[in-house]
Amino acid sequence: MLVHVPKDRIRKGMFIELVECPHSEFGKRRFLLTSDRDQKAIAATSAERVLVNTALGLDQNGRPVPGASTKSELARIERVQEKVETATVELRGNLDAIGAGERPDFDKLAPLVQSMANVWHATPTVALEMTRLKSKDEGTYVHSLAVATMMTQLADASGLDDETATLLGVAGLLHDIGKLQIPSDILNKPGRLTDEERQIIRDHPENGFQLLSQYGEIPPLVLDICRLHHEVLDGSGYPLGLKASQLTLPVRISTVCDVFEALTSARPYKAGWPVEQALDWMFERPQLFDRKLVVRLGGLLMPHAQESRYN
Ligand SMILES: [Fe+2]
Repeated sequence: MLVHVPKDRIRKGMFIELVECPHSEFGKRRFLLTSDRDQKAIAATSAERVLVNTALGLDQNGRPVPGASTKSELARIERVQEKVETATVELRGNLDAIGAGERPDFDKLAPLVQSMANVWHATPTVALEMTRLKSKDEGTYVHSLAVATMMTQLADASGLDDETATLLGVAGLLHDIGKLQIPSDILNKPGRLTDEERQIIRDHPENGFQLLSQYGEIPPLVLDICRLHHEVLDGSGYPLGLKASQLTLPVRISTVCDVFEALTSARPYKAGWPVEQALDWMFERPQLFDRKLVVRLGGLLMPHAQESRYN
């Protein structure tokens, strides 16, 4: 349940969805409050209230809600949070350098994929935690990390070998590299986009592909995913409008993970959808998304769901 709590009544252990400040002085959102520093920073904002999610932490009175996450789960979320923050800083450095024209360094990106894959093994829903923990200004970086993590696991569950699964992870890290060339006021615009702004955003797969293509050694699989992750089965995607028969399993995996992450994560202009709602929305659109992959992703994210089409 989401509740509004006066900012002087927030406690460590509450899960903060949003600090409701009119001037955005506190950009961090969707995180478990664990530090005095964040608590003081929130107190210093002009916000009067904070939006708290009682399903993921303490309630408005500082008490645990029956059926909500337990203490050990909160500790787990905190560990994932730390891991994601470290990985995000690393990825940010790498992607910024590539976006500025430096040669991509696979020796730096592959270990990032491996380390996130290791966190997943300890916590299968790690990619979801990442979408929850995303903060506004780190959108593209955390989105890329989450997509990369899901892609590696979905590749593995689809029977692809380890080497290909890791390569898909690297492709996930790089798939939105073209977005780093989009001005952030367009990327994070809360209102309706103009036709021109929409076109600038729709150019990012081709721009990213062109950027990476300058370097002869990028594997074709990574280039394909960068260019084709917004293609869908009926040909209504972009930039090329390819049809199902032209979309390989790795490309389909990238589309499913990319859309799922976008639906479930909070953005400056929308709250994240619950997991099952996002999966159902995609399941009901078999003309766009490979249904087998949607079901398989659901099985990975909700392994214990009862009476669900995803287990
Ligand atoms: Fe994209």
